[in-house]
Amino acid sequence: MFSKRIACIGAGYIGGPTMAVIAMKCPEYKINVVDVSEARIKAWQTDDLPIYEPGLLETVKAARGRNLFFSTDIKAAIRESEIIFVSVNTPTKTFGEGAGKAADLQYWEKVAREILQESTESKIVVEKSTLPVKTAQTMENILNANSRGIHFEVVSNPEFLAEGTAIDDLLAPDRVLIGAQETPEGQKACRDIVEIYSHWVPRERILTTNVWSSELSKLVANAFLAQRISSINSISVLCERTDASIAEVARVIGADSRIGHRFLNASVGFGGSCFKKDILNLVYICESYGLYEVAKYWESVLNMNDYQETRFVRAMVRAMFNTIVGKRIALFGFAFKANTGDTRETPALYISRMLLDEQAKLVITDPKALENAKIDLADALDKIELTEDPYQAAAGAHAVAIVTEWDCYRTLDWEKIYQSMEKPAFIFDGRNILDHRRLFEIGFNIYPIGRPAMKHF
Ligand code: NAD
Ligand code: UGA
Repeated sequence: MFSKRIACIGAGYIGGPTMAVIAMKCPEYKINVVDVSEARIKAWQTDDLPIYEPGLLETVKAARGRNLFFSTDIKAAIRESEIIFVSVNTPTKTFGEGAGKAADLQYWEKVAREILQESTESKIVVEKSTLPVKTAQTMENILNANSRGIHFEVVSNPEFLAEGTAIDDLLAPDRVLIGAQETPEGQKACRDIVEIYSHWVPRERILTTNVWSSELSKLVANAFLAQRISSINSISVLCERTDASIAEVARVIGADSRIGHRFLNASVGFGGSCFKKDILNLVYICESYGLYEVAKYWESVLNMNDYQETRFVRAMVRAMFNTIVGKRIALFGFAFKANTGDTRETPALYISRMLLDEQAKLVITDPKALENAKIDLADALDKIELTEDPYQAAAGAHAVAIVTEWDCYRTLDWEKIYQSMEKPAFIFDGRNILDHRRLFEIGFNIYPIGRPAMKHF
C-alpha cells in the first residue's frame, strides 16, 4: 500500500516535527518515528505533544495513524524501512578525550550498531543529527563491516529549522541540504532523498554536495549565525557607553544588502541546544587539525556570549545600589527564545544562578517553559517562586528582567505592574522589546541593552 518505508530514530525536537511534515506532504510513504524514551513516544501519540511548537499539533494530526506512526519498537522500524533517518542527540562530550568540546557520538554509534544488527537488506542511513565532519566515514566503516553482503549508504541531510518557527521553516526552507558520496551508489541514494523533499520544496532550493561539505556546512551555518549575535552584542556595550543606540546601529548596518537586517537583535546572549555545542565542536575539529588561530577565532564568539550574560547581571546589581540581597526580582521568560518551551542552554538559567548567588529572591514567569525551569533549577526550588502570571511575578518586586522576547510582555498593563512593585522600580530589558520612553514616563528606571539607562535619580 505504501510506496516507501521510512524510519526516523530519535523523536525529539528535530525528529518529530521533520517527520510530521514529511508524512503530511508524502502520504504514499509510511513513516515510523521511534525512540528509546517511552514517555516521549506516548506523548507523541496524544494531543499533549512532548514539545511545544506553533502549528505542530495540526501537522501531526494530519498524518498520525494514516502514514505517521510513533513507537518504541526500534528494531521493527529498522527492519521494515529502506531509508532510516537518525536524529538522536549529539551533545558535547563531558568526559575523556575532547571533554567540553568534542561531540559525544555514543548515541549515534549505538544506533548505527543497532541498524547493522537488525538489517537483512541494504539501506540508506541519513544523518539528520548535527555531526562532526567525517562522521559519515566512521559510520560507513561500522555499518559496512558485515559479512552479509548488505550495503549501507550514508547520506548527510542536516536540518536548519529554528525552534519556535519549526513548521514554517520545514514547509518553506531557505534550502535543503543533501550530501552524498560521489559514487554511483552515493548518487542514487542522493536522488532518493531529493525525491522526498521534491514533494514540496522547489528543486533549486535542494542543494546537493559531497558528504563532507554537507556535514561541515551545518556547523558553519550555526557558527555564522551565532557570530552575528556576538558581533551585535559586542557593539551593544559600546552603545551603552557612548549614547549611541544599538537598534539604530542595527537598522543602519542592516540596510546594507550585503549585511541584511535579520539576526541583528542585541540580547542577553544566545541560548539553545545547538549554537554553543556546534561551535565547540567546530573549535575542537580545528584544534585537532592544528588550526589553533581558526579555533581561537570561533571560540571568541562563545566568550563574547558569556560576557554578555554576565554583564547583564552585573549591571543589575550595580544599578540596584550594589546589593540585591533579599530583593525580589522577577524574570520574565525562561525559554531560550520566544514560542518554545525549550530551556536548553537558556541565558535565563545562567542569569538565575548568578542572581541566586547574589542572594536575590527569584520569581520566574514564562508561558511555556516553567516545567523545564523546574527541572533545570531542581536544586534551588526552595529559593524560587514560579508562576505563569506575570502580574503576580512582578507584585512586590524591586525589578523585572526581560529575558525571553515573548510578545505577550509587550502588551502588559505596565501602569498596573508599576503600582504593584517596590520603589524605585527597575526594568532590565534584556531583549529590547518594551517601549522604554513610555515606561520611563510611568516611573520605571529603565536599563535596555545597547542604550544608556533612563533613570529618575
Ligand atoms: P532531542 O534530545 O530533543 O532528541 C533526541 C532523541 O533521541 C531523544 O528523544 C532521545 O531519547 C533519542 N535517542 C537517543 N539515543 C537513542 C537511541 N539509541 N535509540 C533511539 N532513540 C534515541 O534532540 P534534538 O533537539 O531533536 O536534536 C537532535 C539532533 O538534531 C542533534 O544532533 C542536534 O544538533 C540536531 N539539530 C537540532 C535542532 C534543534 O532546533 N533542536 C536543529 C537542527 C539540528
Ligand atoms: C538555530 C539556527 O537558527 C537554526 O538554523 C539551526 O537549525 C538550529 O540553531 C540548530 O542547529 O539547532 P534555534 O537555536 O532554534 O536555531 O533558534 P535561533 O532563532 O537561531 O535563536 C538562537 C538564540 O539566539 C536564541 O537564544 C535567540 O534568542 C538568540 N538570538 C537570535 C538573538 O539573541 N538575537 C538575534 O538577532 C537572533
